[in-house]
Amino acid sequence: MTTPLRLGIAGLGTVGTGIVKIVRQKASLLAERAGRPVVITAVSARSKDKDRGVPLSDYAWEDDPVALAQRHDVDVFIEVMGGHDGPAKDATEAAIAAGKDVVTANKALLAHHGHALALSAEAAGRVIRFEAAVAGGVPVIKALTEGLAGNEITRVMGVMNGTCNYILTRMQSSDLPYADVFAEADALGFLEADPNLDVGGIDAGHKLSLLAAIAFGTQVDFDAVELEGIQNITIEDIHRAADMGYRIKLLGVCQMTGRGLEQRMSPCLVPDNSPLGQLEGGTNMCVIEGDQVEQVVMRGPGAGMGPTASAVMGDVMDIARGIRIPVFGKPAHMLTQAKPARAVTPAPYYLRLTLEDKPGALAKVATVLGEAGISIDRMRQYDHNEETAPVLIVTHKTTRAALDTALDAMPGLGVVAGTPVALRIERV
Ligand code: HSE
Repeated sequence: MTTPLRLGIAGLGTVGTGIVKIVRQKASLLAERAGRPVVITAVSARSKDKDRGVPLSDYAWEDDPVALAQRHDVDVFIEVMGGHDGPAKDATEAAIAAGKDVVTANKALLAHHGHALALSAEAAGRVIRFEAAVAGGVPVIKALTEGLAGNEITRVMGVMNGTCNYILTRMQSSDLPYADVFAEADALGFLEADPNLDVGGIDAGHKLSLLAAIAFGTQVDFDAVELEGIQNITIEDIHRAADMGYRIKLLGVCQMTGRGLEQRMSPCLVPDNSPLGQLEGGTNMCVIEGDQVEQVVMRGPGAGMGPTASAVMGDVMDIARGIRIPVFGKPAHMLTQAKPARAVTPAPYYLRLTLEDKPGALAKVATVLGEAGISIDRMRQYDHNEETAPVLIVTHKTTRAALDTALDAMPGLGVVAGTPVALRIERV
């Protein structure tokens, strides 16, 4: 009998329970594929007595995840508790110090501390694997670090928060306002405990920062991600975008530009007939572009018990087989510190303005845009009433900086009511 790989699982929520199920139900399949048994020896969670629908009596119990991480009968510490500080960080650090490999689903932890953790893990000869942290069951980390390792990656894009994609597609299909669909998502249990992590784009921004580090060989820099959530997207924007052949998606884009690393997570318009435009509901999609492969599109479930546990087990199986790669695909001490380049790549923009219905109002707006060097491509006016006229403008390519200059000047014109909406139209 070959030596078993012994797992210690910290966190027995949806993901932890899913891992227990796979290890119990697929023991022989895993052993055959790994060439050795994969077993759980110990677990840890907040409440010992809770019925989780899986038998736990075969495993040692630890109240403290740090104690679990330090056990002599644990080879791989599986962190599925969540949270970027506190017990998840303490236990992960303890596991590395105790000579364990780590598998985690925790994007927040790695987005904030990934570089430091990678340095200490690699100095100790350990691996940290995190397939489950990005796009749930979609093996995008493996694709980037392994399958596409022969490419220079030119751009990575993705819809990486299923809850936001559910909200945006449901608004469109049911013609409901944001607040109603948000309440529906809440009732369905789709939202994180802090919903701003989802709708504020933070969860997806964490994921994007991890992909950028691998794609461009840079230190994770979540603080440099330009973040904008979906909270201000109205049903009107969704309909207007659809009229012009676009869908609104919370889209992450990272690319290395001549001025530094651009990382953006924001609502964008994408063509409705593109793979990203056609993505419905809680599904995730990652688009990777490389100099040799051109474009690879990966689509699948971004959350849930089975998909997330599947991703964790993929990492566990690599460790069981002896496959060891640097945390971010290149030794951590060689990762560079990228200069952040904020929205330097020009793009067309969608603008929605409510104009007071006065002679010359449109001319004033056109002048402000022109003075900022922004050229108008298309323009439409909708649902005109006696006081206001909603106007849609699609610009030619411009920079966000130029657009911000024009937007800053709008309130001073005396003809623009409310705050204009400006959304980037992304080439996908
Ligand atoms: N809340 C996330 C989502 C899943 O909706 O995609 C975990 O990252």
